[in-house]
Amino acid sequence: MSREVLVKILDLARWAPSGDNTQPWRFEIVEDNHVAVHGFDTRANVLYDFDGRPSQMAHGALIETLRIAATGFERLTEWCVRSGSPDDAPVYDVKFAISPGLLPDHLLPYIEKRVVQRRPMRMLPLTPEQRDALSMAPGPDFSVQFFESSSQRLKVARLLWDSAYIRLTCPEAFKVHQEIIEWGVRFSNDRLPEGAIGVDPITAKLMKWIMQSWGRVEFFNQYLMGTIAPRIQLDFIPAIACAAHLLLRPLKPLDTLNDYVKAGIAMQRLWLTTTSLGLHLQPEMTPVIFRWYVRGGREISAQTEINSKAQLLASRFETLAKVSNNHGFAFFCRVGSSTTPKSRSLRKLLSQLLLSE
Ligand SMILES: Cc1cc2nc3c(=O)[nH]c(=O)nc-3n(C[C@H](O)[C@H](O)[C@H](O)COP(=O)(O)O)c2cc1C
Repeated sequence: MSREVLVKILDLARWAPSGDNTQPWRFEIVEDNHVAVHGFDTRANVLYDFDGRPSQMAHGALIETLRIAATGFERLTEWCVRSGSPDDAPVYDVKFAISPGLLPDHLLPYIEKRVVQRRPMRMLPLTPEQRDALSMAPGPDFSVQFFESSSQRLKVARLLWDSAYIRLTCPEAFKVHQEIIEWGVRFSNDRLPEGAIGVDPITAKLMKWIMQSWGRVEFFNQYLMGTIAPRIQLDFIPAIACAAHLLLRPLKPLDTLNDYVKAGIAMQRLWLTTTSLGLHLQPEMTPVIFRWYVRGGREISAQTEINSKAQLLASRFETLAKVSNNHGFAFFCRVGSSTTPKSRSLRKLLSQLLLSE
């Protein structure tokens, strides 16, 4: 296999999604048919990267995107986690083999089109065909639970409203929020551009000013109902304005690095399938992540009030999904049709992601 083909596959796979566009991977070209993907996570300084799980799911999304991209060049893909590599810096050995006559995966055209839509979408219900395609997309190890009726979407909206309160009042989350947004731009190579966050320009200006210090955030939250405007725009309205919320549930509880990588593969298949159906998607991972903390017996914050709120949130999420507290949740999102977002995250250049040989 030529180096040129390998570079094309890597270049396309860069478009895999990752939490806050962190792109927690670097590529080492070992041979022209072998790439070592050096994964990493941000658990040390990002509250949401609980035990590195969201990053590991992003690694899975990348591996699946590599596989799909390779089918465009008649290549089959095999991958494994290199034995002995640590969970917080896993190395994935990805190998490609020529398979003459292999047809391109039907999701190939959607790798670059897939994008987050954080703004309100149409409430047009899913068709039975769309529902079937979304149910099948993640493969046999996962099920997809749909929350579609207006009363279910209202319940999800309330859940997200409460989850967002935790997010906005948690000092440990503040420094993450401060770093992930690139203000005043439509496109960002390594963060979320202001235009893709989903707030109007005036709220964005206010947010930018408030987020310069935790003191300002606390003051606004306490005296000026500072959490209300962002929660209405970023959580409540979008939760109602969509076709459905989808909960990706593993049939067996997720436990190891491999399990989360496979959840990421399933997530990416679901997301690309959504795109292939002409729909958009927004992940809604905060309630899932807060529940991971709670069910893992771990604290989100030094503030006890925040941890108590998270306990309640986890129970309410389980009631909504009609499951007990030992059921695994992998990924939560909303889907619907809408115009294509004018603002989006881009990616680092391939040269920035390649480790020097
Ligand atoms: C595991 C994971 C969790 C994510 N969680 C959220 C989320 O809770 N809310 C959100 O708006 N976007 C979420 N995202 C979307 C990323 O921010 C987005 O994929 C990234 O910024 C790149 O943008 P793009 O997908 O439009 O290319 C998540 C993505 C991944 C892979």
